[in-house]
Amino acid sequence: MNEQVLSGRVAVITGGSRGIGLGIAKAYRQAGAHVVIAARKPDGLASARAELLRVKGDGEVHETVANAGEPSDAERCVEETMARLGRLDIMVNNAATNPYMGDLIDLDLPRAEKTVRVNQFGMLAWTRCAWRAWMAEHGGAVVNIASVGGLVVDPHIGWYNATKAAMLHMTRQLAYELGPRARVNAIAPGLIKTELARAVWEPREPILTAKLPLRRLGTVEDVAHAALFLASDASSWMTGQTLVLDGGATALPIGVDG
Ligand SMILES: NC(=O)c1ccc[n+]([C@@H]2O[C@H](COP(=O)([O-])OP(=O)(O)OC[C@H]3O[C@@H](n4cnc5c(N)ncnc54)[C@H](OP(=O)(O)O)[C@@H]3O)[C@@H](O)[C@H]2O)c1
Repeated sequence: MNEQVLSGRVAVITGGSRGIGLGIAKAYRQAGAHVVIAARKPDGLASARAELLRVKGDGEVHETVANAGEPSDAERCVEETMARLGRLDIMVNNAATNPYMGDLIDLDLPRAEKTVRVNQFGMLAWTRCAWRAWMAEHGGAVVNIASVGGLVVDPHIGWYNATKAAMLHMTRQLAYELGPRARVNAIAPGLIKTELARAVWEPREPILTAKLPLRRLGTVEDVAHAALFLASDASSWMTGQTLVLDGGATALPIGVDG
């Protein structure tokens, strides 16, 4: 792939201050894009911006304090982006929350609502702002970071996974609604070695990897490479689809312990 595949394009990335979102921002910057990272904590955004500026790239880097679950924050971030950079070609819906671990049957409404608000409605709110501000007229690409959990049953995070499954369906629905102007695709990562998932992978990495066909956990770069493909013209005939990046976790024979 040509190294400058996103030259001059503008990308907004929610949850762009660390982990997968920051990895995607770095990949887009290296590919020539201007990047806008959004997250809740100003300190994290400031250090992420400094890290991004150390990555080779000609594009501008901006940060916005915003909660992915607040539609008014999405509107403000997109307005600021249009004012500063004049376009918005790529919307990455990456921020997510998981305030509840446990059986679905015992879930309380406040935590259920918070999860839906950030993970599911957030994806719609930010996509809608990008669509209305730029993509409806000029086209663009939406990249939704869901989870392989949206495809399988998990003993602990059933509600979070239900919102990720909803993201996969909304990816198809929005692909239908926003074509041919905008393309909408998703990535469903398996376990990726970020802070969010540290408590899951750190104590059990050898056990977890032994079961995987590819014998290792995912990295931020694994997801960033796929997000670059989905944002670029290399995927120009692809919409409504989900790339599963899980080291083969969903390619195991039935009966192999998960
Ligand atoms: N890591 C995995 O194993 C894994 C697997 C499958 C899917 N995923 C998905 O990948 C995405 C990124 O996960 P990650 O592992 O990179 O997480 P992470 O390392 O914890 O980073 C999360 C990022 O999102 C921001 N954020 C969190 N809540 C937010 C909110 N309500 N509004 C705006 N920003 C928010 C955080 O900054 P602030 O705290 O400053 O807001 C941070 O920038 C999520 O959608 C997650 O569900 C992760």
